Parts: sequence; C-alpha cells; structure tokens
Amino acid sequence: MKLSIIILAAGQGTRMYSNIPKILHKLAGRTLLEHVCHTASALEHEDIYIVYGHGGEQVRETLSKLPVKWIEQTEQLGTGHAVAQAISDVPELNDILVLYGDIPLITQETLQGLIDSHKQTTLSLLTAYIDNPRGYGRIIRNGSDHVVCIVEEKDATDEERKIHEINTGMLMASAGSLRGWLDAMGNDNAQGEYYLTGIIKLAVAEGVKINSVIAESSIEIHGINNRSQLAEAERYYQLVQAHHLMNNGVTLMDPHRFDLRGELELGKDNSIDINVVLEGRLKLGNNVTIGPNCTIKDSIIGNNVNILANCVIENAIVGNDCRIGPFSRIRPDTTLDDEVHVGNFVEIKKSMVGKGTKINHLSYIGDSELGSETNIGAGVITCNYDGANKHKTIIGDKVFVGSDVQLVAPVKIENGATIAAGATITRDVDSNALAISRIEQRSIPLWKRPKKK
Ligand code: UD1
Ligand code: CA
Repeated sequence: MKLSIIILAAGQGTRMYSNIPKILHKLAGRTLLEHVCHTASALEHEDIYIVYGHGGEQVRETLSKLPVKWIEQTEQLGTGHAVAQAISDVPELNDILVLYGDIPLITQETLQGLIDSHKQTTLSLLTAYIDNPRGYGRIIRNGSDHVVCIVEEKDATDEERKIHEINTGMLMASAGSLRGWLDAMGNDNAQGEYYLTGIIKLAVAEGVKINSVIAESSIEIHGINNRSQLAEAERYYQLVQAHHLMNNGVTLMDPHRFDLRGELELGKDNSIDINVVLEGRLKLGNNVTIGPNCTIKDSIIGNNVNILANCVIENAIVGNDCRIGPFSRIRPDTTLDDEVHVGNFVEIKKSMVGKGTKINHLSYIGDSELGSETNIGAGVITCNYDGANKHKTIIGDKVFVGSDVQLVAPVKIENGATIAAGATITRDVDSNALAISRIEQRSIPLWKRPKKK
C-alpha cells in the first residue's frame, strides 16, 4: 500500500504572540514544520501534502525548497476540514498518515510503529498516556477495550475528563474510507468545527475495528502552543542530540550547556566545553577541542585543532594542527592552511592564510592572501576598504610584518620581506627587502608638560 502524508499546518498559533506563523518558529535552528517534514520524508511514502493557511505567503516562501505539495486552507474550519482539503488529490487506494506541523519531536520509530500496525485495518490512532491530559481529546474505550470515540476537552463530561489516554492527533487511515467519513462529517460540537476526531464514531458505526498504538514517550507527541513549550522542546531536543554525540565519541563537558542547531559530521576524540553553539553544517576532524563560549557556523575544521575560549567562526575552512583564540573572529570565506595560529582579538575576513603562518594579536586581515610561515605582528591592519571599494593585500612566504603596520590595499609584499614596526605601506615591497616608513625619532630635552590652569 502506498502512503500519502498530510501535515496540518494552517493554524495561527495565537499563543505564540508572534507576527511569524507558529510553524516557522525554530527548534534547534530549523522550523517546526521542517522537523516534521524531515521525519515524514524518512518514512517510505509517495507524497507529502502540507495544509497551510495562516501566514500563507510567508510559509511557502520560507520553505519553498521542501519537496512537498502545498494545499491552501483559506478558512480554518477544523482539523477534519483541513484533511479534507488535501484528500481529493490522494489516490483512492493509498493510505494516509496525518501529522501536525506543530508536533516537531515525533520520531520516525514511533510513526513506523503506527504504520506497521496498520497493515490489516482501515483506521489506526496514535494515543498516549499523559499525567496532565488537559486540552487534549480523550480516548473513549468500551468494555472490550476497543476505541469507540474521541471526546474533545470542551465537549467532555467530568468523568471523561478524568481519562489519561489522549489523542495525539496523529492517525492513519485508508484514503477511500477517510474521504467517505470526512464527507459525512458535521460540525455539531462546542467549537462548531469539523473535527477530524469525528471520524472515529463514523468508522465504529460501520463496524470498523479501530487499531491504536500507544506512543512510548509522551514528550514526542507534545504540540508546541507557546514559547515555554518551545523552549522545553528545545532543551529536550538538545539533550537527545548531546547524548547521541557522546555515544559517538565526543566529550561534552556539560550536555546541558551545548547547542547544535544544524548538522555535525564528526571525527574521533573531539572535546567540547560549555556554552558552545554549533550552527548550520559543520565538520570536525579528529582531536578537535573547542573551548567554552564559542560559536561555530557552517565550517570545516581539520584534525588536532585547538579552538580556545570565546571564538566566533563562520563559513571557514580550518586546516590541521591549527590553534585559534582565545577571542578570535574568523569571518566568512576564510581558509586557514595547516599549523596556522590565530590569537586574541584577531579578525580575519575573506582571506587565505598559508601553512604555519601566525597572526597572534589584535589584527584585522581582510581580503588578503598570506603565504606560509609568515609572521604578522600585533596590531597589523589590512586597510582593504577605501570607502567605496574593497582591495586585496597579498603577502608572500616567510614575510615578517612588525607591529602596528597598516597595509593599504591594493598592495603586495613579496616573499621574505620585512616590514618595520609602525610602517604605513602604500607601495609593493620586493622580495627580501626591508620596508620602513617612519619619521625619525627626536628628543626635546627637559620637556615641560603643560600645567593645569
Ligand atoms: C487536536 C485534536 C485533539 C488532540 C490534539 C492533540 C481535533 C478535533 N482535536 O485538538 O483530539 O488531542 O489535537 O494536539 O482534531 N489545523 C489546521 N486547520 C484547521 C484547524 C487546525 O491546519 O482548520 C491544524 C493546526 O494548525 C494544528 C492542528 O491542526 O497544527 C491541531 O489543531 P488544533 O486546533 O490545535 O487542535 P486541538 O484543539 O489541539
Ligand atoms: Ca493544538
């Protein structure tokens, strides 16, 4: 049987108090809806439909790259109505799995369990037992333990409200039957909505035996309705990721103070200190240590790299045996070859730094190419911007740039050149030459400092 997946995502999410539709809020760097799509995509399926409505343009624009079919629900008349919008496109003989754009933690394993158990039936529900069932639809079973209906909180009696088995909302049904039930459904309930849960009664009336699977973890079925729940889900998700990483050979100094907002590819024996935020796509080699309070985004880090405390690295490639920080900033389009040292208060942007070169203190290197085994002294600035355009600085191998030098780009320093401290370099410097631009020092003897009036 082929599977079509329908993800409901048309609701507004009023309790987020946001201008952004709820499903576009982010969990671990990805939107809630992307999480659900990602999990759905991992299941064997024919197609995925997203029923969207609130913030329609914004949702489609932000997530235009998702390989899904978009179905607009212009008026949010209820979950049953939402599924009905998508179902006309689903082939009669397919099975349908209904998921929710605001239940991002649901796992592939749980859904696979639901799919596997569905084989011989026409309707399967994913239920859960939770301590505080308030707000959820309750599962009503008869004396033989068969599900007979779902009662929404607002329509429930006091007795029914005491039931702890709840409807997660996620369910599976054969497309043909589901279409029939949705057609027959009314909106005669406390909210005047077309409840998807209304199909249970109709199925039971037809003699359908309803299959149900109980979700093992109650956290993964939690919907996100407000920012507190979003934060809870974030911490849960981060902890799961942290344990996954530790089980794959990473030392985390504190799994509660670690955040991965993206994808991490790993070597062995990496160690990550507290309050490190990793974003986007990252690759770490072997024996990488990352000190506390670093942010690293979309970068590739080689083997035996030591990143000391408080570094910010973005869109960079770092070779093997490098040492970076503390307090270094490596900006986009920077490549550090092997054995490069970058020290405190050094900013490097859109530059290539050759093997074994050291930039240890208080420098700005932008739009530059540096050769190998070059030494950049403290306080060296590449003046790459003339107020209108950016220009390149090219520095060869084994160059020595003294402290407090300004290299006014475009400028080229050939191999082996020496730049005297304090120089302002505006013209190219030949190989092995010394460039000095300094007014001669003079002394005025017995200088009298001005006095306060
Ligand atoms: C629903 C279930 C309830 C279940 C709970 C689990 C129904 C009638 N009730 O209640 O049994 O315990 O979920 O979280 O199904 N949506 C649309 N279009 C609509 C209405 C809703 O796309 O017209 C989407 C919402 O964006 C949301 C989801 O469907 O993602 C659930 O809708 P919501 O109104 O939150 O249903 P609940 O009252 O929570
Ligand atoms: Ca809800």
